[in-house]
Amino acid sequence: MESTIQDTLINKERFGKDFTWGVSTAAVQIEGAHDADGKGESIWDVFSAQKGKILNGDHHQIATDFYNRYQNDIDLVKQLNIPNFRFSISWPRILPNGTGPVNQAGIDYYNNVIDYCLKQGIEPWITLYHWDLPYALELQGGWTNRAIINWFTEYVTICAQCFGDRVKHWMVMNEPGVFTGAGYFFGIHAPGKTGIGNFLPAVHHAVLSITAGAKVLRALLPEAQIGTTFSCSYIEPYSNKPKDIAAAIRVDALLNRLFIEPILGLGYPAELSVLKDMEKYILPGDHDNLKFDFDFIGLQNYTREIVKYSLFTPYIQASLVKAKERNVPLTAMGWEVYPAAIYHILKQFNEYPQIKKIYLTENGAAFPDEADDGKVDDPKRVEYLKAYLQQVLKAKKEGCKVSGYFVWTLTDNFEWAEGYNPRFGLIYVDFETQQRIVKSSGKWYADLLR
Ligand code: NOJ
Repeated sequence: MESTIQDTLINKERFGKDFTWGVSTAAVQIEGAHDADGKGESIWDVFSAQKGKILNGDHHQIATDFYNRYQNDIDLVKQLNIPNFRFSISWPRILPNGTGPVNQAGIDYYNNVIDYCLKQGIEPWITLYHWDLPYALELQGGWTNRAIINWFTEYVTICAQCFGDRVKHWMVMNEPGVFTGAGYFFGIHAPGKTGIGNFLPAVHHAVLSITAGAKVLRALLPEAQIGTTFSCSYIEPYSNKPKDIAAAIRVDALLNRLFIEPILGLGYPAELSVLKDMEKYILPGDHDNLKFDFDFIGLQNYTREIVKYSLFTPYIQASLVKAKERNVPLTAMGWEVYPAAIYHILKQFNEYPQIKKIYLTENGAAFPDEADDGKVDDPKRVEYLKAYLQQVLKAKKEGCKVSGYFVWTLTDNFEWAEGYNPRFGLIYVDFETQQRIVKSSGKWYADLLR
């Protein structure tokens, strides 16, 4: 009975006929074909080949073989009644050395993917940078080198020229907070760099590249809808103690405000004292170039974080109270299942008058799915998606400018440092045989979108 009540609550019609429904993916996580047809090495190719970097020694050389199976997988998008398909372009497939000679085979491949989507009546949404920097550029400092602004705009220009006649929705970058934090501060993602001296320039150059890339798109494709995406977790203090509250404000500034605020013209959040050291990377004129008037902002929410004051945590004096220590429902990532997080995040970002439109460009959950007799039953994912969507609806009814929702993700895939262990897909993948099985969540989403 309960599930019928929920089903009515998240009936597609209640979101309005203009609401955009989709599913999101990323090149590294699905394509495989790591060295096919002239593709250059990416920082992830190099990182995952190193011992001990990826759980269970996994790598993404084959992943879900989307490169060769894109027609089959786009057919599945269609079979699930999903009208919008978000995928990313691999920079080193287009420019094997990051800059310089273009790899025509890479252009041909994405032309084929785009054309096949359109042929199936599916709208392609492109992310230009989902973390696979050409390794040749990392050898020159990667995101810590200010020259990346030019390297990136060269790449964006080529993509706009080659694909802009058919692609209407563009996302310049995916979750800059994650690739700079995990990749240039903690070193747990590619390229494996650590420390504040790498993190701060990477952040500043990422912001400047986001806006520079967006300007290229605007100039070359005046009709395009231009956005960029951010990870965001709803932050709550561990207690009412002023120190915990102040710690939560700092973590919120770091995780949720660090990129969006300069882009909206508000500058870097003043609450983060560590950003004082950023000054040395900021050149005259930069402040004006940090800003861009995006058509939409993509928000990606999975959970909330509880924050505590922590004297010994450098730079931020705050720490996260792990979900597994809080006796709360968890996903296979160890993230709390907390549907109201997406509501609070929508309310929080809705407060910025400069944001015109919000798409939830990722939401979903990993659970330990198993195939049994050709079927995969994943009731926890169905419940998760329903509960989060109910919260999206609540925010929408209260006037939040949320215009769409994309599930993360189509098929089980390569979850970065976690390898193939966490399964996020609406479709199960047997990584030995590459067989796909639509999970009950996939069937549920197909019914919702029918
Ligand atoms: C955000 C990232 O964009 C995506 O690549 C990742 O797989 C999901 N979150 C789940 O962690």
